[in-house]
Formats: sequence, structure tokens, C-alpha cells
Amino acid sequence: MSTPTFRAAVVRTPAGPDSIEIINVPVAEPGPGEVRVRIAAAPVNPVDLAVAGGAFHSMGLINQPERTGLGWDFAGTVVATGPGVDLAAGTRVAGLVGGFDRDFGTYAEQIVVPAADVAVVPDGLNLVAASTVPLNALTAAQIVDLLGDAPTDGSRLLVTGAAGAVGGYVASLAQDRGWQVTGLARAEDEEFVRGLGAEFTAHAEPGWDAVADGAVLQERGLALVRDGGTFVGVQPSAVLPSERGITVHAVTVHPDSPRLGGLLARTASGELPARVHAVVPLDQVAQAHRAVAKGGVRGRYVLKP
Ligand SMILES: NC(=O)c1ccc[n+]([C@@H]2O[C@H](COP(=O)([O-])OP(=O)(O)OC[C@H]3O[C@@H](n4cnc5c(N)ncnc54)[C@H](OP(=O)(O)O)[C@@H]3O)[C@@H](O)[C@H]2O)c1
Repeated sequence: MSTPTFRAAVVRTPAGPDSIEIINVPVAEPGPGEVRVRIAAAPVNPVDLAVAGGAFHSMGLINQPERTGLGWDFAGTVVATGPGVDLAAGTRVAGLVGGFDRDFGTYAEQIVVPAADVAVVPDGLNLVAASTVPLNALTAAQIVDLLGDAPTDGSRLLVTGAAGAVGGYVASLAQDRGWQVTGLARAEDEEFVRGLGAEFTAHAEPGWDAVADGAVLQERGLALVRDGGTFVGVQPSAVLPSERGITVHAVTVHPDSPRLGGLLARTASGELPARVHAVVPLDQVAQAHRAVAKGGVRGRYVLKP
């Protein structure tokens, strides 16, 4: 009898969208504490373009001998469970796999992940919308953890890229911790940013108590922070040196199932926006990468394996 397989998008020699291949991978059974999920939706995130383009291979952060898997987050249905898991087959879940250096990813028909890293998708939230939550909403929540509670004497937070996936969630979630949020975004994004309950600017001047850098402005973002303020970047592989007494952090997202459950619930209730631009079949992964690379896309391309 032949071994069952599933389809997955990978890169062997990363060189941009044309180097993405769809291959057949043997089905693996979940071990203790693991679940096998049939993936219904997997978003295309900026990090996937960088992986497919070889940026992290060149930095020595990916050292896969044969192939590198693509995709960080997903939503789907549990189809098999390992020992010690109390999620039933048929449960709808969403989750995040972290780290660059892996031969598997979420651009695939199936994935085996620790049950502790997934959260149940609430009724009323479809799997396409749910799939866009884990990576970017968890990153934003973890950026807000690094910011902490807003000091009473200095709570002006600038979120760069506030119309983007990470920035949009930071602009919402930071308000829970007392920050007075202003979103820096393109002029055409004003309505979206104000809809998050934030102030809006298309041209920020220096002097902010804190900057959360969803637009990856890096040095230009740090220059907007007042002396002694806080900067949270999104590139842990390129942490900026501190200057002028500024506390500098760079977030590295990690799975957090209880937190993800809360973020999915807030998306289901409409309190957080669902960020879907288009749904495309897995076969069109290269076209989706090319479209995202052009910039200006709001919401995610979501692959349907
Ligand atoms: N460290 C981690 O754990 C982690 C986790 C998740 C994401 N990230 C990284 O975080 C970054 C943001 O991800 P994302 O998914 O939020 O990307 P995104 O959805 O593309 O959002 C970025 C936003 O910034 C805007 N922008 C860029 N330059 C700008 C400028 N000068 N002024 C105003 N707006 C500007 C973009 O607008 P245009 O499209 O018009 O340019 C876009 O709306 C990516 O580099 C991603 O890899 C890191």
C-alpha cells in the first residue's frame, strides 16, 4: 500500500516567488500532545516573502538540508490527536508555528502541531478570517506587553504602519493599556485608522513617548521617540542600538493559546477587524507573493490548500 501524502508549498533554493514548489509530503501521525489539522486557510505574510526570497538563509537563520516550509499561521479542523490531547477530531482551531528554520509550514493541506499552540475558533468566525489572526494579532499583543501600561505622565504612542496587519492590531490593543494612540499610515488609510479608535497622521514629527514600528521604519522610527522613551521594533534580527536613553525592544512572536483564544473571540464579536484581502487556491501561491510584494495590499491574501 502506498504511503498517504499531502500537498505543501516549499522552497528548495529560495529565489523569490518562482522558486516556490508544491510537493507531496508523507502524512505524519501526531505524537503525544500533538494534533494533526486539515488546513482550510493559511495567510500570506510579509515574512513568507522574505523566506521565499532567501533573506533568512543568507543570514544563516535557516539551515534546512532539503527544503524550507512556508507559512506561519493557519486555521482548520482537527483530524487526528495524539495521546494526552483533549481536543476532539472535528474541532475548528487556529494556530501559529514560530521560527524560520523548519521544513514544514502552514502553506499545506495538513500540519502536525502541539495542541498547546492552537486555540478553538469560536462559532460565528469563519476559518478564512480566523487564519489571519494568530501571527499578527499575537505579535501585536506581545508588542503591547513590551510597551506595558502607559505611564501617566507620558502616554502618547505612535504606531507606524497602523493600517498594516501588525500595526492595526497594536493600534487597537495598546488602548487597553492606557496608551493614547496615533497611527501613522498612508493618507488613504485615515478612515481605517480612525475606525480603530486611534488618532491619525500621515507625517509624524519627533517627540513621541513611545513608538511601535509596524512599518519597519527602524532608525527613522527610533528618531521619532522622545529622549528616555520606548521603541518596539519588529525585526529581532536587526535590533537597533539604544540612543538618548530610549528603551529599545524587538518583538519575537511566540505561540500563546489562551491569548489567541481571546483575540479570536474579539474578532468574532467584530471588536477587532478581520483582515482578509482575497482568498486564492494554494496553486496560486506565487501570484499571491508577487501581489503582496508590490505593497499597498490591505488585509491578507489567504491560501486555500
Ligand atoms: N518579529 C516578529 O515576531 C514579527 C511578527 C509578525 C510580523 N513581523 C514583521 O512586521 C512587519 C509588519 O508586518 P505586517 O504584516 O503588519 O505588514 P503589512 O500588513 O504590510 O503592514 C505594513 C504597513 O506599513 C505601511 N507603511 C510602510 N511604510 C510606511 C510609511 N513610511 N508610512 C506609513 N505607512 C507605511 C504599509 O503601507 P504600504 O503597503 O502602502 O507600503 C503597510 O500598511 C513585517 O516586516 C513583518 O515581517 C515581525
